[in-house]
Amino acid sequence: MEDRTPRPEDLEPIERASVDELRGLQLTRLQWSLRHAYENVPQYRKMFAASDVHPSDLRDFSDLARFPFTDKATLRDNYPFDMFAVPRDRIARIHASSGTTGRPTVVGYTLDDVRTWARLMARSIRASGGRRGDRVHIAYGYGLFTGGLGAHYGAEELGCTVIPVSGGMTSRQVMLIQDFQPDVIMVTPSYMLAIVDEMRRQGVDPRGTSLRVGVFGAEPWTQNLRLEIEQTLDMHAVDVYGLSEVMGPGVANECVETKDGPHVWEDHFYPEIVDPVTGDVLPDGSYGELVFTSLTKEAMPVVRYRTRDLTRLLPGTARPMRRIEKITGRTDDMIILRGVNLFPTQIEELILRTPALTPHFQCVLTRAGRLDALTVRVERRPGADSSSAARELETLIKDTIGVSVTVEVIEPDGVERSMGKMKRIVDQR
Ligand code: DLL
Repeated sequence: MEDRTPRPEDLEPIERASVDELRGLQLTRLQWSLRHAYENVPQYRKMFAASDVHPSDLRDFSDLARFPFTDKATLRDNYPFDMFAVPRDRIARIHASSGTTGRPTVVGYTLDDVRTWARLMARSIRASGGRRGDRVHIAYGYGLFTGGLGAHYGAEELGCTVIPVSGGMTSRQVMLIQDFQPDVIMVTPSYMLAIVDEMRRQGVDPRGTSLRVGVFGAEPWTQNLRLEIEQTLDMHAVDVYGLSEVMGPGVANECVETKDGPHVWEDHFYPEIVDPVTGDVLPDGSYGELVFTSLTKEAMPVVRYRTRDLTRLLPGTARPMRRIEKITGRTDDMIILRGVNLFPTQIEELILRTPALTPHFQCVLTRAGRLDALTVRVERRPGADSSSAARELETLIKDTIGVSVTVEVIEPDGVERSMGKMKRIVDQR
């Protein structure tokens, strides 16, 4: 793979700052952000009062634990615009995340927020190995979803040529990659796999395309899938993380030179890890739920927003900012099977260790009597033997995770392809 490490002189000064400098900046910004939320959003004023705290109580980072959490329900109760901290005529953009049920979660941006987001996304693409002058194929969906437009503004800001394809029409995706010769692709990892299948169908060698870097996110994906994608396409596969409530893509991004988990852009977002049950703040290195407080957002500051994403905080490496370990899953995606907790990502890791199987899979939950059962439905590779592959994966899951599941190996193309986020769990209970 081509060396895509950015030159030190191309980094922003804060990406080369000391941890002390970073903490100093964060503390000043955190104090501003809490005050901004308190003074301009009635909901925060109410919540702070109920917790008996005032923005002036924050003198050090440890004081943040006294402040109340925000979650999806808080945003939903204030639907659509009551979490905004600026007058309506200063809102330059609205996005929304599609709730699976009911109303979407609405978020707003001032023009300065849009610019900050573009700069952070440009930083993210650069960290991924993208450069000024690169052609960037964007296959994240455009629209209320933050993926497409977030990536788009970032790539423009970096000085790239943007190809705004959006998701879907997979055969056309392949044609445009062939004809426009992009250096970078930005897409969900599951849709990248669908594009690869389509390349093969069209007789295009995935290793022979112009693609050098893939910026993959919006859904959990594993280290083994990274290796699979890098080998299949002969390009760097780098992780971008974000969520609409906190901004969109570009809250954290991996560095191509280390690929050791996304660095949180801590000059704009303060991360914490809490116990998902008690809400207690856990020390760095412990696994728990990721929580963010925005430091610079004007239109919609968030205070201690509970992401439901499970990971841990690790020290900075390629940048001074702390990293998150690749997300294992969301608290909502945890499967509890006869007392054992498991996530689809654990299944993905094991599928990719089974040579006869492809990474196209779903976890189907059923109930037989009082017991829940899990069937892993997974496609075989062309020419592979289904029954021995099924037994192999069943044994691997039993030995590694400690739970019995049924593996159903199906024909290539049997699992429905996603154009964006893949639905891994099919709950038939
Ligand atoms: O998915 C923003 C985004 C777009 C990120 C494009 C990256 C690339 P939402 O639709 O609000 O926003 O969904 C956010 O998606 O809380 C995670 O559960 C999941 N997620 C996002 N990125 C990753 C990632 C966008 N790199 C939710 N790894 C988050 C694992 C991710 N999960």
